[in-house]
Amino acid sequence: MRRSRSAGAWLRRHVSDPYVRQARAGGWRSRAAFKLIEIDRRDALLRPGAFVVDLGAAPGSWSQVAVSRAGAGRVIGIDLLPIAPLAGAVFVLGDVRSAGDSAAIEALLPDGGADLVLSDMAPNLSGVAAADQARSAELVEVAAEFSARALKRGGDLLVKVFQGSEFVRLRALLTSAFERVLVRKPGASRGESAECYLLCRGRR
Ligand SMILES: C[S@@+](CC[C@H](N)C(=O)[O-])C[C@H]1O[C@@H](n2cnc3c(N)ncnc32)[C@H](O)[C@@H]1O
Repeated sequence: MRRSRSAGAWLRRHVSDPYVRQARAGGWRSRAAFKLIEIDRRDALLRPGAFVVDLGAAPGSWSQVAVSRAGAGRVIGIDLLPIAPLAGAVFVLGDVRSAGDSAAIEALLPDGGADLVLSDMAPNLSGVAAADQARSAELVEVAAEFSARALKRGGDLLVKVFQGSEFVRLRALLTSAFERVLVRKPGASRGESAECYLLCRGRR
């Protein structure tokens, strides 16, 4: 089968991407690790002993970073896709939008809830801008609703958001639930991508 022009461009960019090479050399499961590492360096997000939930965790590089900072037995991840086992983390195969799967995560948390919720969730893109924006926005809302139930008071949420027509509404939604909401665009997040992260500190 012939590879499409865009798939060829993706492959060329992938093999020449310094973050991909660094990820391989450092044993990270994906280049996404560097996004969390950079945000954590700047904002001191991950603390030893913190309980961390990783929404949309596959293939597991954010969970790797979280285990390395928070310690073993304190990281719980969930994804629609299976994730290879990782020492120090527990993974649930499921959909954060499902009440049952979300409750399975909450049941693993200590009384009072998690210290930090991470959400790098992204939908499979259809190429239809309006539909993709709506599905991305839904995942931000789901992460916010999950945090309202499972994050302890004063806890933090880091959530991926795509800049587009929904951005202002989503930031306002999060600002009503947290003391401070900061925009972060780490170096490993490709410049041409509309992706950025909202760092929401201090759940009210
Ligand atoms: C960009 S990847 C996450 C990469 C991850 N942070 C890492 O460092 O390895 C986004 C993930 O979100 C997951 N996802 C999307 N919608 C989801 C949902 N409703 N429930 C659980 N996972 C979801 C996808 O399956 C995908 O694996």
